Amino acid sequence: MPDVAYLNGKFMPLRAARVPVMDRGFLFGDGVYEVIRATGLRPFLVDEHLRRLQSSARMLELACPPNALLRRVIREILRRCRYERSYVYIEVTRGVTYPRKHHYPPEDTPPTVLVAGWAMGPERPEDFVRGVSCITVEDFRWGRCDIKSVNLLPNCMGKEAARRRGAAEAIFVRNGLLIEGGSSSILVVRRGRLLMPRLGQEILPSLTRALVLKIAKRRRIPAVIRPVTVREMFAADEVIIASTTAEGVPVVKIDGRRIGSGRPGPVAAVLHEEIVRAREGRR
Ligand code: PDD
Repeated sequence: MPDVAYLNGKFMPLRAARVPVMDRGFLFGDGVYEVIRATGLRPFLVDEHLRRLQSSARMLELACPPNALLRRVIREILRRCRYERSYVYIEVTRGVTYPRKHHYPPEDTPPTVLVAGWAMGPERPEDFVRGVSCITVEDFRWGRCDIKSVNLLPNCMGKEAARRRGAAEAIFVRNGLLIEGGSSSILVVRRGRLLMPRLGQEILPSLTRALVLKIAKRRRIPAVIRPVTVREMFAADEVIIASTTAEGVPVVKIDGRRIGSGRPGPVAAVLHEEIVRAREGRR
């Protein structure tokens, strides 16, 4: 079954979808996006993803189609794809304008709306058995990382640096504090407590992080939201990569230094199991 796209009102094979070169997403990275995980026909946390998409769009004064339409399109994409495990990618840009001008185009310029479905790559069960390594990268991104915009060059640079060192994720740090991963939130476990940085303009309000807070409450794992130092992260018993795509992957090495026992820990295992259970609807 081919990957499917919905582009500006039409469904088509993803590989056939084309956007004009004068699209502001292409010229300026002037757009917002979401990545949703789906099991069969069921998209996970779809209301939360759509709420964050609308919020990102609102903060950029970008016209976004209503959720009712996006929900219908997501349903149709999943129906056409028929993958057991897939991602639904949504991107909305400020549309096509000519000539090239930085300032926003007239308000009646239609946005470019893409919703695409593709199959998930193979699972990596070994990541959960052995754990993964990460690198730290000084956070040199812009000041509004709370907006899920398609301006992801620093994230790409960080994640490429990680890949070249055989690491799974780049962890952004700033002034001695943990911020987040290149495409994930980073959770720290110390003495049985889950530590995570406060939300703010320097961090994406991760939906997996929010889910983890609910799970922690239910499973009686104390969670503390406060600035987390890089030093605390290195001294942690466990570090966990949390995101839509990773769900909850244990980190056993950062910058070549061993974390905790150097083996995946119990909190990572509980969180991963609970996230998978919630996604599969096995409450
Ligand atoms: N990224 N922080 C950043 C910078 C991210 O890009 C992401 C997700 C997260 C985790 O958010 P959530 O738990 O809502 O997935 C945190 C997506 C998956 C991506 O860009 O592929």
